[in-house]
Amino acid sequence: MQEAIRTLKNWLAESDNIVFFGGAGVSTESGIPDFRSVDGLYNQKWKYPPETILSASFFARNPEEYYRFHREKLVIDGVKPNRAHLRLAELEAEGKLRAVITQNIDGLHQAAGSKNVLELHGSILRAHCARCRKPYSAERMNHGTGLPRCDCGGVIRPDIVLYEEPLDEDVMGRAIHYIRQAEVLIIGGTSLNVYPAAGLVRYYRGQRLALVNLSETPYDSFADLVIHEKIGEVFSQI
Ligand code: APR
Repeated sequence: MQEAIRTLKNWLAESDNIVFFGGAGVSTESGIPDFRSVDGLYNQKWKYPPETILSASFFARNPEEYYRFHREKLVIDGVKPNRAHLRLAELEAEGKLRAVITQNIDGLHQAAGSKNVLELHGSILRAHCARCRKPYSAERMNHGTGLPRCDCGGVIRPDIVLYEEPLDEDVMGRAIHYIRQAEVLIIGGTSLNVYPAAGLVRYYRGQRLALVNLSETPYDSFADLVIHEKIGEVFSQI
C-alpha cells in the first residue's frame, strides 16, 4: 500500500485540479453504516427490504413506515466528519480540489468545511412538502414523532432522491463538467453499483484516476491506481 499512497500523494502535490467522487464508505468511519457491506443497511433485517422503503412509491403508500425507518436508520445524531472529510476540505481550501461529488445524504462534507459539494442524492438535512414543495427545516422530520405535515396538508419529505426518482439534472450536469475537466479524479468509499451516479466515472478523460475502496468495484480495472484500504487511513497519509 505504501507505494500506491506515495503515488497518490505525488499526484495531489502536482495538481490544482482534483475532483473527489464518493459514497457511503466515506462516512463509515464516522459511525454511519454503508449500504452493501456485510453490516450495511441493506443487509439488516427489516419488515420490508430497505431499498423498497427508500422508494417513491413506498413513501407515497406508507409514509408512516418510511418515517419509522428514516428516524431509526438514516438519522444518526452526534456523527462528526472523519479524516477523509477533513482532508478533502483542506485540499479545497488549498485551492487544489475543485469539487466534492457525493452520493451521501449526511452533510458531513459541509460539516468538515467543504464548500463546493455536489449532493447527487440530496440531503436529510433539508425537507420540503411532497405536495406544494414548500421548504421546511429538517428538525421535525428527523427528530419529531408521527407524520410531519405541511400547512397545505401535504406530507413533509426529505430532500433526498428516493428510488424511482430522477437525479437533479443541474447537479448531474455540474458533476459531469467537473469530472470531464479533472486532472486527478479520486473515487472513494463507493461500490459503484448504483446508476446513474456510478456512470459518472466514464466521463473522466485523464490518466490519474485513483480508487480508494475497501472492497473491489466493477471499475477497478478502469482506475490508474487502486487502494483497497480504509479511506480515513489513506487520507491521513496524503
Ligand atoms: N474506507 C474505504 N471504503 C469503505 C469504507 C472505508 N472506511 N467503508 C466501507 N467502504 C466501502 C465498501 O467496501 C463498499 O464498497 O464503501 C463501499 C460502500 O458501498 P455501498 O454501501 O454500496 O454505498 P454507495 O456506493 O454509496 O451506494 C450508492 O446506493 O442505495 C443507494 O442512495 C444509496 O447513495 C447510495 C447508493
